[in-house]
Amino acid sequence: MKIGIIGGTGLGKIDGFKFISEIKFDTKYGLPSDSYKEFETEGNSFFFLSRHGKNHQFPPHLINYRANIEGFRMIGVDFIVAFAAVGGINKTLKPGDFLIPDDLVDFTNGRETSFSEVGDVFHIDFTEPFCISVRNELIKIMGNMDISFYSRGVYVCTNGPRLESAAEIKMFDRMGFDVVGMTLSPEAALAREAGICYAAVNVVSNFAAGTTKNLLTTEEVVSAVKSSEGNILKIIKSLSTIKEKDKNCKCGESIKYARFK
Ligand code: HPA
Repeated sequence: MKIGIIGGTGLGKIDGFKFISEIKFDTKYGLPSDSYKEFETEGNSFFFLSRHGKNHQFPPHLINYRANIEGFRMIGVDFIVAFAAVGGINKTLKPGDFLIPDDLVDFTNGRETSFSEVGDVFHIDFTEPFCISVRNELIKIMGNMDISFYSRGVYVCTNGPRLESAAEIKMFDRMGFDVVGMTLSPEAALAREAGICYAAVNVVSNFAAGTTKNLLTTEEVVSAVKSSEGNILKIIKSLSTIKEKDKNCKCGESIKYARFK
């Protein structure tokens, strides 16, 4: 299997894997955030991309999401697992918890959100934004580990790069959203348009704005992800157990039903 991994804030590289090669290319949508690093373990190839770039130079609203996903399409990955730090809105969540979101709401603006262009119109189904098969496998994998994780939750994507106001978080809470981040949209939709199975693992790095009196700092976010790094690497290693037969989703056929006849 060819497994795509997207690393977010605090996860700029993956250590402890056998390095194979560095794949650098341009795409028709421009340059991806970084080169794709190929690693190997137990006969599976991993392709790692740092979403924010080598030196964390791309803020969430200026990431070339289309190029990043196009790169994975060119490599031909079987599925992508995307890691992303989030603020916890749901009061049961605390820093250090993991969550596998099962739905998302997009509050971003001004981003390139689609591969659809003039003359190539399609509307993918997005009822379940995250691949059901990869999510189920992640739930099994993480269920076998000694970690605190939630197997579902609604992720709301803000445009950033500023963090939210207390009133915004209160509104999101009332709307039933569990975690807040700045990157899974349009990433998830582009993966679906590309027909690539895509699921996410969120690391709760902080209580969302207004739920704590403390100022939110990037240091807090990075250090929470760094403390979870050992478990993140274990999750990545365990992805090797996912086999083609485990996939019973329709992600690969997303375009088939999306175009006008
Ligand atoms: N808000 C938005 N994005 C985030 C947060 C947050 O509190 N923490 C980590 N990413």
